[in-house]
Amino acid sequence: MKALVAAGYQPLDRIALTDRPKPAAGPGQVVVRVEAAALNPLDLALITGALKDVYPVQHPLVIGMDAAGTVDEVGPDVTGYAPGDRVLAFTGQTGSVAEYTVATPGPRLAHRPAGLDAERAAALPESGMTAVCLLRAAGLAPGQTVLVIGATGGIGLYAVQLATALGARVIATAGGQDAEYIRELGAAHTVDYRTADVVAAALELVPGGVDLVVDLINNGEGLVGSARAARPGGRLVSPLFGPQTLDRDVTPVYIGSFVPEPGDLDDLAARAADGRLRVEIGARYPFADAARAVADFAGTHIRGKVVITVP
Ligand SMILES: NC(=O)c1ccc[n+]([C@@H]2O[C@H](COP(=O)([O-])OP(=O)(O)OC[C@H]3O[C@@H](n4cnc5c(N)ncnc54)[C@H](OP(=O)(O)O)[C@@H]3O)[C@@H](O)[C@H]2O)c1
Repeated sequence: MKALVAAGYQPLDRIALTDRPKPAAGPGQVVVRVEAAALNPLDLALITGALKDVYPVQHPLVIGMDAAGTVDEVGPDVTGYAPGDRVLAFTGQTGSVAEYTVATPGPRLAHRPAGLDAERAAALPESGMTAVCLLRAAGLAPGQTVLVIGATGGIGLYAVQLATALGARVIATAGGQDAEYIRELGAAHTVDYRTADVVAAALELVPGGVDLVVDLINNGEGLVGSARAARPGGRLVSPLFGPQTLDRDVTPVYIGSFVPEPGDLDDLAARAADGRLRVEIGARYPFADAARAVADFAGTHIRGKVVITVP
């Protein structure tokens, strides 16, 4: 089969479609014939080796972790899935930008409901489950106010919608070209992070501070500044890492890697299928242009997800 491969830690422009053996389904695994795959920032870091000390990978590395397609083969000890089932999955390091990938039944694999095409399904797993886990870990409650920093990206667009659906009031960062779209998704206010001081703007809107800051951009000490948008007694949640103590009475919650609960991915898929959750595909590429998709994801503003369709 063909797959988008990094032969070693290397610059993004050296990855290429390469012949790889078709994977086989081991015990507790299914092989998925991929119809669409999506990219995430982690994929870029794994190619270049930016995270190799904390997240080493084996080479050759098949790129991508989000996939949607059809079950091709079912391994021993698998129940609930059969060849021909339409699915979406977070595959982990098996790699998803390929004609076939391997997925493991559990919270990271779900049946794809009627009404959810493969492209939108592929755009859900990592970003959607991370958004769910962040809001759950932060304990966001109806009626609370939340500032989402990084709202126009993969996680952010889902976080804005899920927080709105929960009954929270959302303030979201968005460049001018995305502001109207983010308000359509439910944000009460938008702040242009390119031209405004986001924390100052949020405090102008909510003078006592928001209940929760969801910061998808900053890490380390950079989170101290974002936490200033939260009220005393409020929380800051991040998918990255930062200080255990912030310089105000704001509780930090860090999700080093998302851990979904059973049913999270099914719920996201159901919401996307019936229209409660909009899936924004900012750029689509045919499989033959998969390497260019990675380069563009790294270098240009893309609202929502980058999806690669596999013939
Ligand atoms: N812990 C976990 O399990 C986990 C899981 C998934 C992701 N993550 C991490 O979470 C982070 C966000 O992931 P993602 O998939 O949402 O990324 P993404 O799709 O690249 O989205 C980032 C968004 O933020 C915008 N942005 C850039 N600088 C900004 C700023 N200063 N203020 C406000 N917005 C800004 C970007 O706009 P432009 O395009 O204009 O720059 C883009 O729309 C990444 O670091 C990723 O590695 C962690």
